Amino acid sequence: MPKRAKISVIGAGGNVGASVALWSAVKELGDVVAVDITRTLEDGSKMLPVDGRMLDLAQCGPMELFDANITATDDYSEIADSDVVVVSAGIPRKPGMSRDDLIGTNVKIVKSVGENIAKHAPNAIVIVVSNPLDAMVYTMWKATGFPTNQIIGQAGCLDVARFKTFIAMETGFSVEDINALLLGGHGDDMVPLPRYTNICGIPVTQFISEDRLNEIVDRAKKGGGEIVKKMGTSGYLAPASGTVQMVEAILKDKKRILPCASYCDGEFGLNGLFVGVPTLLGAGGVEKVVEIDLDEAESALLKESADHVQELVDVVKNLDPSLA
Ligand code: NAI
Ligand code: 2OP
Repeated sequence: MPKRAKISVIGAGGNVGASVALWSAVKELGDVVAVDITRTLEDGSKMLPVDGRMLDLAQCGPMELFDANITATDDYSEIADSDVVVVSAGIPRKPGMSRDDLIGTNVKIVKSVGENIAKHAPNAIVIVVSNPLDAMVYTMWKATGFPTNQIIGQAGCLDVARFKTFIAMETGFSVEDINALLLGGHGDDMVPLPRYTNICGIPVTQFISEDRLNEIVDRAKKGGGEIVKKMGTSGYLAPASGTVQMVEAILKDKKRILPCASYCDGEFGLNGLFVGVPTLLGAGGVEKVVEIDLDEAESALLKESADHVQELVDVVKNLDPSLA
């Protein structure tokens, strides 16, 4: 009998992590180990809120008709033999903050999580979600010491989904027929690519004027901030959906090409940097970075975005020289 896959989610007591657990269970991708921290209450007693959150989720099973063992813990030994580990531990941004403002706090959290993953689940593929995304992927790579195929960041699946959503809203066509591509870091300088965007194979420019398309590109780039402004914290349903798209591609060895923060070793002229690029995802994690032709303007935008990622990586190295 084939065993169920094992998906561990670090930070699962929070919005993104709990939603990753939810989608994973509903899609029956495997058993879920939900890890988060134990809180000490004012009276000195201890509480593990992720335990309650996962019990709530498990009770959806008889209605949503999924079978999955869902366990909650603060003990990393329970992530042993995970196939995939998702990391969304860390603080999210509040209105007025950029993703970059989170770096000082989250680098410490992601480093300690990474050391625990290296110790207890050395063969897992790790998907990082914590922000600032690209710099936290770098931090995870350094903290685990894993080969680069085992380390990926989730950003592009979400960012391109935002772009596709806005195109669907504009045209009235099904989201299923909208294909798009996006490159770069998970910041407002990410690079949606209208030239590689089509609706059922028909160039998007046949349906949307250039000016309007530019407005949609701009809205997609600032899509995270729009949600933070509207609800006081960052989105979590779509980010988790993007993450689970990656989990599924890995566990089912689907060989999907998804925009992910992957290690570039010369691809796109980028060296030694994790940044959003089309990535072949399968059982081996990052199986290939898929290069595409870029024109001069697209290359310049990607370079600008990658330079920003490099600046953030340099901040990480300054904050913690052991990560250099
Ligand atoms: P949240 O505050 O709801 O959850 C974060 C969870 O991490 C909390 O339950 C907290 O207890 C836990 N945590 C903190 N330190 C920990 C540690 N050392 N070990 C284990 N767990 C720990 O925040 P939310 O909304 O879930 O966001 C999580 C992170 O994901 C943030 O950094 C946010 O900016 C990022 N994010 C990234 C997105 C992306 O597309 N890459 C999209 C949305 C959010
Ligand atoms: C987002 O794009 C904040 O990274 C998070 O929603």
